Amino acid sequence: MDGGGTRDHGSVVDLELDRAHSARMYDYFLGGITNFPADREAAGRAMAAFPSVLIAARGNRAFMHRSTRHLARSGITQFLDIGTGIPTSPNLHEVAQAVSPRARVIYTDNDPIVLAHARALLRSHPEGSTAYMQADVTDPGALLEHPVLRSTFDFGAPIALSLNALLHFITDRHDAHGIVERLKAALPSGSTLTISHVTPDFDPEAIARLTAVYEAAGTPGQARTLDEIAAFFAGWDLLEPGLTPVLRWRPDPDEPHLNVTDAEAALYAGIARKP
Ligand SMILES: C[S@@+](CC[C@H](N)C(=O)[O-])C[C@H]1O[C@@H](n2cnc3c(N)ncnc32)[C@H](O)[C@@H]1O
Repeated sequence: MDGGGTRDHGSVVDLELDRAHSARMYDYFLGGITNFPADREAAGRAMAAFPSVLIAARGNRAFMHRSTRHLARSGITQFLDIGTGIPTSPNLHEVAQAVSPRARVIYTDNDPIVLAHARALLRSHPEGSTAYMQADVTDPGALLEHPVLRSTFDFGAPIALSLNALLHFITDRHDAHGIVERLKAALPSGSTLTISHVTPDFDPEAIARLTAVYEAAGTPGQARTLDEIAAFFAGWDLLEPGLTPVLRWRPDPDEPHLNVTDAEAALYAGIARKP
């Protein structure tokens, strides 16, 4: 990174440090250092609108750990993570490879700041078992044809697709459900889909305030109800315990978030398997 820009194949990409980005706000909520004044200002407004947003972010991250561990233990060795975010250890590949050292992980995001930090995501053992591709989920055709995806994965074996805390940034204007169907159709039988998603079901006023802050910061979003989120899994078999408030999905008794209410965490989470 250099002066607010980063190099991508020789050209300088504008990191837009003068405006807030969801990846950097999320990094701030998680206690990271890859955020700038515009991100911190917007994050402050988000915290005023929805004071438990830090707890929600951490609860979401803990779900990523538990769900990845569960899938790796079930024998899946290929993980496609879209909307990866700025590296925050442990990252998905660290969790998966701690269970299954031969697991291969592809990270994807559309934010150039994530690309600029991708090297941290690619430090893995064995060398070369993680890859990064810059792609926008709103163009699923291009994402699915990306040479990194085609050269890294065996499409004859199950793939664990994760869309964690991503789809609430994809509004119905972009046909979020159509996008997810395109991704699902490309995966072989036995593949899984993991989703965590902000919901207005528990505290609609607070979530409306939070959505308004993101919209004002230039990141429109859409919180969805239980039924709307369940529709992303259509035709696939939900794994136990189903689509649940994020803290209730196979909770680890040692996790500190168990004292948090569902309204404070404000996300649903689940995993389904392709028949
Ligand atoms: C809240 S973070 C979630 C990070 C991580 N998945 C997790 O759950 O801990 C959302 C990420 O989605 C990315 N994102 C938003 N819109 C996207 C799009 N259209 N295509 C790809 N990534 C996107 C953002 O850049 C950000 O890094």
